[in-house]
Amino acid sequence: MYAPGRTRYLLVILAVVVSGHYLLSLAHPSYGRATSLSHLFSPRPNTNVPAEYYTHGAVPPGTSPQLDHLEISSRRANASFVILARNSDLDNTVRSVREVEDRFNTRHHYPLTLLNDEPFTEDFKRRVSAVASGPVSFGVVPKEHWVQPAWIDEARATKGREQLVADNVIYGGSVSYRNMCRFNSGFFFRHPLLQQYRWYWRIEPDVHFHCDVNFDPFLYMQDRGKVYGFTITMYEFDKTIPSLWGHVKDFIKKYPQHIAKDNALGFMSDDGGETYNRCHFWSNFEIADLEFWRGPAYTDFFNYLDSQGGFYYERWGDAPVHSIAAGLFASKDQLQFFEEIGYEHNPYTHCPKDPGMWERGKCGCDPTRSFDYDGYSCMRQWDRFMGL
Ligand SMILES: *[C@@H]1O[C@H](CO)[C@@H](O)[C@H](O)[C@H]1NC(C)=O
Repeated sequence: MYAPGRTRYLLVILAVVVSGHYLLSLAHPSYGRATSLSHLFSPRPNTNVPAEYYTHGAVPPGTSPQLDHLEISSRRANASFVILARNSDLDNTVRSVREVEDRFNTRHHYPLTLLNDEPFTEDFKRRVSAVASGPVSFGVVPKEHWVQPAWIDEARATKGREQLVADNVIYGGSVSYRNMCRFNSGFFFRHPLLQQYRWYWRIEPDVHFHCDVNFDPFLYMQDRGKVYGFTITMYEFDKTIPSLWGHVKDFIKKYPQHIAKDNALGFMSDDGGETYNRCHFWSNFEIADLEFWRGPAYTDFFNYLDSQGGFYYERWGDAPVHSIAAGLFASKDQLQFFEEIGYEHNPYTHCPKDPGMWERGKCGCDPTRSFDYDGYSCMRQWDRFMGL
């Protein structure tokens, strides 16, 4: 039998119990399950993504007085995922897409753009489309964006490869790896399928997302005027870039107008720009502004570097090239470390250390084994540089 009076009475009791529990959790951080919630009410360091970017439901209502959560979660950025993959990467691509869907995109349905240096097979298209929650496009990289340019001195390139093989450098003898690095450095953002987008999130076959991403990193980047977001930073192998920094210094002299005020040169150089400390962002994960790469500073930079031939004579990676550009042509506040995003690319994992972040994101990674403060990581350098 329906008894409105009794229902209202029960609701009042419930409200009293819940709010009591809530007040208690604020007063006593160790009070039961409420410990993780208490983090949401304490001010977060300004480097972290603030509460208003969290998807409706992921943050208790009332934590963000400024913005209505429903309105936020229906806002969308002009963005796509980007994956460069070969047909032989099918299983690993499906796994990466499945994870990024489960951890993030199933609530947003952002499109997926897949690129390959040859046409994707029907099987590839079917299986990737099956796990995606948004529109999926498959594109072929134009040959002129991929193959070694005819003006490269092949004898010199061969000698360079042989040297790196002798030095046991990973992918030291590979031309296709060099094609890929050059493509990722200077061409992916010019692909016709990406022209319609402003923002991208780069993923690769066989990467892992260890935490729920309960906020929209694209909107966060867009609203804050950010340019480049990363999760892992480390030292580059010096044998792959022996002449790179010399060319960077020449470029700076030639194009001083492109250098941003308040840039991140201090993160990449410990002696005011004389030498490169080899710190770079690991570019297999990137959330960034395509217009930054399409703009005049990076266009001049890539053309200058490309004309030196170092993608083939040495083995310049897109990671140091992108990182040095982001460090010079953007202000340091436009670079974003996404502490919240648990990410793994073999053999390294970034796992959030903050217990609140880690529990809130339902992270499956081990925070004690995060790469952040490994000896090979540049995170300490980043913290020092950013004054954290
Ligand atoms: C998305 O971004 C691209 C590149 O900046 C731009 O050309 C396009 O007009 C944008 N689309 C919308 C809907 O804003």
